[in-house]
Amino acid sequence: MCGIVGYIGKRQAAPILLDGLSKLEYRGYDSAGMAVYDGEKINIEKTPGRLKVLEETTHGGELMPGMIGIGHTRWATHGTPSRENAHPHFNSSHTIAVVHNGIIENYIKLKETMAKRGYKFVSETDTEVLAHMLDYYYKGDPIETIVKVMHRVEGSYALGIIFTDCPDEVFAVRKDSPLVIGKGDGENFIASDVPAILKYTREVYYIQNEEIARIGTGDIKFYNIDAEPIEKELCSIEWDMNAAEKGGYEFFMMKEMMEQPKVIRDTYTPHIKGDNVVFDELKDADIDFSSLASVHIVACGSAYHAGFTGKYVIEKMARVPVYVDLASEFRYRDPILSSDDVVILISQSGETADTKAAIEEAKKKGAKTIAIVNAKGSSMTREADYTIYTEAGPEISVATTKAYSAQLIILYLLAIKISDARGVIDAEERKQLISDITRLPEQVEMVLNNKERIQKFANRYIAAKDIFFIGRGIDYAIAVEGALKLKEISYIHAEAYAAGELKHGTISLIEDNTLVNAVLTQEDLYDKTISNIREVKSRGAFVMAITNVGHSKIEEVADYVVYIPETNRYFTNTLAIIPLQLFGYFVSAGKGYDVDHPRNLAKSVTVE
Ligand code: AGP
Repeated sequence: MCGIVGYIGKRQAAPILLDGLSKLEYRGYDSAGMAVYDGEKINIEKTPGRLKVLEETTHGGELMPGMIGIGHTRWATHGTPSRENAHPHFNSSHTIAVVHNGIIENYIKLKETMAKRGYKFVSETDTEVLAHMLDYYYKGDPIETIVKVMHRVEGSYALGIIFTDCPDEVFAVRKDSPLVIGKGDGENFIASDVPAILKYTREVYYIQNEEIARIGTGDIKFYNIDAEPIEKELCSIEWDMNAAEKGGYEFFMMKEMMEQPKVIRDTYTPHIKGDNVVFDELKDADIDFSSLASVHIVACGSAYHAGFTGKYVIEKMARVPVYVDLASEFRYRDPILSSDDVVILISQSGETADTKAAIEEAKKKGAKTIAIVNAKGSSMTREADYTIYTEAGPEISVATTKAYSAQLIILYLLAIKISDARGVIDAEERKQLISDITRLPEQVEMVLNNKERIQKFANRYIAAKDIFFIGRGIDYAIAVEGALKLKEISYIHAEAYAAGELKHGTISLIEDNTLVNAVLTQEDLYDKTISNIREVKSRGAFVMAITNVGHSKIEEVADYVVYIPETNRYFTNTLAIIPLQLFGYFVSAGKGYDVDHPRNLAKSVTVE
């Protein structure tokens, strides 16, 4: 969602802030702004719309002198995307400026109190309340002031703050919204996400909930919510700098799709030792996979869809019941859980508000929690009992591709681990399953190499109004993700249906030439889905089928066929999703859309 960048050092701050904010554009935003201290006063520039507008207004930052500053990209929650509502926000005397990610839940009450104290508001935001509260409590000690405000606000926040009274410092604080501090040489940074500062430093401190950072050009000091000094560990970011750049591709989404063979390999490598699946992260875990009562998988969006595939794979392979929930539902439905249950939470960002709340709910009920997360050091990695990382590297495009593929790999490996513990697979089967996983990178590459063919096909559907996706069993799980990929970036209405469910209503939506993308990778369900294809064909549908190589019988019914290489029946989704990702991408790019930044969407959904 919103993005924060802060700088203090010997260089002009504004161009660095703009550069950092440009690396956070992927998170989604609708206005941008900067506050820079020029040695006497704080100057603020902010504009609705794209960052480019702010760059033009400030001549790339040159018009804003000063070596200390904070910048922000805002995704509107309270009030329209306007100049007034854009961050940073000032106190009345313009001596304090603040940028904020998150939501202050009790801001109406706080606003009333501050208004009674004589404070005037110029915006509709919850953030401006913070600027006035900082002003009200400031008696010369910024840490004490910040602590007083923290004690009074409810909700989530990551804040960057500058005070004219502290001309050599930037302050940062967080609760339930990500924030990192980058340590440079004679200069330091704050950012809501690592890519913003990766160009300048790889040394970071992850600020935890209710911690405050006091950042000078050299020293960085940390405090807890009682204003007591605390020590923090400096961590190194191992990501390749190129990982956060487009590397010649028009959009990050294409680059990230093309990275999938490597990501899959990087994700399984630490967990395959000879013919065994190992999870060092779980070695001291108090989880007995052999006697699990049930597995719950909880996530949002594509991560939920990965979990949906996980359900089919784990249930079929390990013969243990698996329940999949949307995190936003799970957290409020009072789920029935016990200490014999494992709850697997899946998230690329590790910051999704609903999934984080689901961890809390599961722990409260006594279940063990395992988070499958991509972003190192993110909140979920601290909140879950155990964390397994996907090795997708930074994912910038709002539409996830490589992180989703990496999540599937961890779920396959967990399925093998659980099956092994329960004695439902033997050593020979385990060896074969592992070998099939290690063939996936090359097979994904083969499907990706066919992208021009998908592009030609996708170009025919740029003007489509409705597109349907069907499949049975595990193929239904991939249909659901294929439909989401298309709709989120192309704005074409797309629906995924369990193929056998069509005739219970949806088939009435099929008209002449409606495109139906059918997925058929499961031998035992093949003929059943073919019957469903015949049903839609006889109502005028045009059918693209995705199936395993060798199933040429499909050509008698489908109008267009995409073959995927032969793999184990459990792992077909890793291959079948590739043409669907490419299809969504080429329709969106063909329409001339900004593929990486679909309207109204944010990469990391840190609000409920
Ligand atoms: C998928 O392309 C979306 N961007 C979205 O559904 C995403 O998967 C969801 O918001 C969950 O995010 P997370 O993995 O960071 O928790």
